[in-house]
Amino acid sequence: MRRMLVTGGAGFIGSNFVHDTVRSFPEVELTVLDLLTYAGSQRNLDAVSDRITFVHGDICDSSLVDGLVRDTDVVVHFAAESHVDNSLNDPSPFIRTNIVGTFTLLEAVRKHGVRLHHISTDEVFGDLPLDSDDQFTEQTAYDPSSPYSASKAGSDMLVRAWVRSYGVQATISNCANNYGPYQHVEKLIPRQITNVLLGDRPKLYGAGDNVREWTHVTDHNTAVHRIITAGRIGETYLIGSGDERSNRQIVSELLTLMNHPADAYDHVPDRPGHDLRYSNNTTKLRTELGWAPTYDFTAGLRATIEWYRENSAWWKPAKSATEAKYKLLGR
Ligand code: NAD
Ligand code: TYD
Repeated sequence: MRRMLVTGGAGFIGSNFVHDTVRSFPEVELTVLDLLTYAGSQRNLDAVSDRITFVHGDICDSSLVDGLVRDTDVVVHFAAESHVDNSLNDPSPFIRTNIVGTFTLLEAVRKHGVRLHHISTDEVFGDLPLDSDDQFTEQTAYDPSSPYSASKAGSDMLVRAWVRSYGVQATISNCANNYGPYQHVEKLIPRQITNVLLGDRPKLYGAGDNVREWTHVTDHNTAVHRIITAGRIGETYLIGSGDERSNRQIVSELLTLMNHPADAYDHVPDRPGHDLRYSNNTTKLRTELGWAPTYDFTAGLRATIEWYRENSAWWKPAKSATEAKYKLLGR
């Protein structure tokens, strides 16, 4: 698999994946296809610009996608509309990019016999009770709550159908919430870090009891590399660190790390349909493919805070527009 096409490689997880691939697999010829929506920036790839080919374009553009897929050995598909609050506000780009875009890629890999790895989320399974040890597994039935998770569930279903009916060579991974450098300021952790850096208070939806499983983006990407190289075709793998925290714990921890009182946050109205808790059972990935996460959450959070402190020129341009959107939503 010498030639790799990465869709969404200018976004948060995709750009970290491109950086990691250049560093760890220097023999791979990388092409990035990205539409550069509000969530993507070519600047995220500045440090590796001489090592990759960048194509500015849409995964729904079938002739562009066909030409790129014809000339590659493997497609790693990160491109998506990725934010739940945006999907509640306007679902249409989610249906287009996440469902029609994945369909467009599937048709191209089917035609050219190219391997595909599809990046998905644990949100396709719905949510788990707050006070339980229940976990999602690869067998859990799909039960998405938001337009975002429904569109990702739809894309996963298309991949499964193309594997079974057309013999497409594909794998799927469903990861828990990610954090780390280059994450858009609309998401929980960067929003609150940048609020504190600007002298504003973190905003907790509802009571802040909802629980997420936080996985460092680099751990997500090492798992994706393991699946591309050793995963079984047609299989799904869950990815997650096992580090579960309530949103209130996260906000208190980052306030403490930033030398502020742990309760210096505001409660804002809750998100409609807000999923209570996510937790992935990662036994399959660990036992079959020998993957394990390497990041300690507190150390990873501290490093992420430092990254945002040192890279205000990266996030400031998006911050005011993002907060203006939240203001309209009352959050
Ligand atoms: P992101 O929003 O930061 O980046 C998405 C990228 O896709 C951007 O660069 C954007 O320009 C690009 N894009 C959007 N529409 C496109 C289109 N039509 N054609 C080409 N490019 C397009 O998202 P992210 O957080 O990096 O998520 C990447 C993937 O990982 C998504 O599939 C998401 O569902 C999945 N995922 C994310 C998380 C998380 O915590 N962020 C967790 C699990 C899974
Ligand atoms: P988010 O980063 O949007 O990821 P997801 O909704 O895909 O899990 O949100 C993570 C959690 O944090 C989620 O329970 C919603 C909550 N949240 C807040 O409490 N305040 C905020 O400002 C944001 C953006 C999210």
